[in-house]
Amino acid sequence: MRQNRFLPLALLVSLTALVTPGVALAVHTIAVIGTGDVAAALGPEFAKQGHTIVYGSRDPARAEVEALVARTGANASAATQSQAAARADIVVLAVPGAVAEQVTRDLGDLSGKIILDPTNRVGRMADGTPFHDVPGKGSNAELIQAAAPGARVVKAFNTLNWRQMVDPLSSGGPVSIPIVGDDADAKAAIAELIRGMDGLEVIDLGPLSYAYVLEGMLVVWANALRSTPFNYHLRRQPAN
Ligand SMILES: NC(=O)c1ccc[n+]([C@@H]2O[C@H](COP(=O)([O-])OP(=O)(O)OC[C@H]3O[C@@H](n4cnc5c(N)ncnc54)[C@H](OP(=O)(O)O)[C@@H]3O)[C@@H](O)[C@H]2O)c1
Repeated sequence: MRQNRFLPLALLVSLTALVTPGVALAVHTIAVIGTGDVAAALGPEFAKQGHTIVYGSRDPARAEVEALVARTGANASAATQSQAAARADIVVLAVPGAVAEQVTRDLGDLSGKIILDPTNRVGRMADGTPFHDVPGKGSNAELIQAAAPGARVVKAFNTLNWRQMVDPLSSGGPVSIPIVGDDADAKAAIAELIRGMDGLEVIDLGPLSYAYVLEGMLVVWANALRSTPFNYHLRRQPAN
């Protein structure tokens, strides 16, 4: 009987979460490193969920960065990349894939923080054929993890064009975002951010060692693009 005394309160709390779509169960300070298309898509979306956003820019005083901060909302600001990361518990690496590993090193000690890695890294052979431009057989995500061994990397958002990140329904229905990572709590935090965005769902595809598969999807896209322009995304199979 004693155990049941708290049941109504527990039910009320979980029902409140259920009936308030997009409710932020945890409030984060999120450093969005970079101020390009992906940063400008994700920063305002995360701000809408009640999180504090700090853009990390090589030139935070630039007029375009100030405009992005203003568009993101009252809880947003900009700083240098390392200052932004130092303030945050989640660091989004919205930078070109080829520099992401070095940027991670330059951010300073990221121990304990969650790194959201949306990067892609595609090179081209002399004839234009694209390839996954990562040394060895691994992924950019694993290079980033090795550059910040005390952090918890989650790969997400690299399989979706920035336009569909902010307007998934323009693709004809909800879009699923595959995530991979080795830390369950970090994946849960990123999954919560994704579910807080209208029209996005999460598929957990397993450990960070699968990141090369997600990064390889852009290689397929870039190759086919030479003859047939197309976009791509994953969508949950409808229930029969
Ligand atoms: N574009 C998409 O639709 C899309 C979709 C999914 C994934 N991605 C991946 O997500 C990442 C970001 O994409 P994006 O299109 O937003 O990239 P981007 O416009 O090429 O670059 C993003 C930002 O990174 C910073 N940056 C550029 N060069 C840098 C350097 N050498 N060192 C440090 N910072 C540098 C810049 O911000 P500051 O000038 O303010 O420093 C820049 O605005 C990429 O890895 C991309 O492959 C892109």
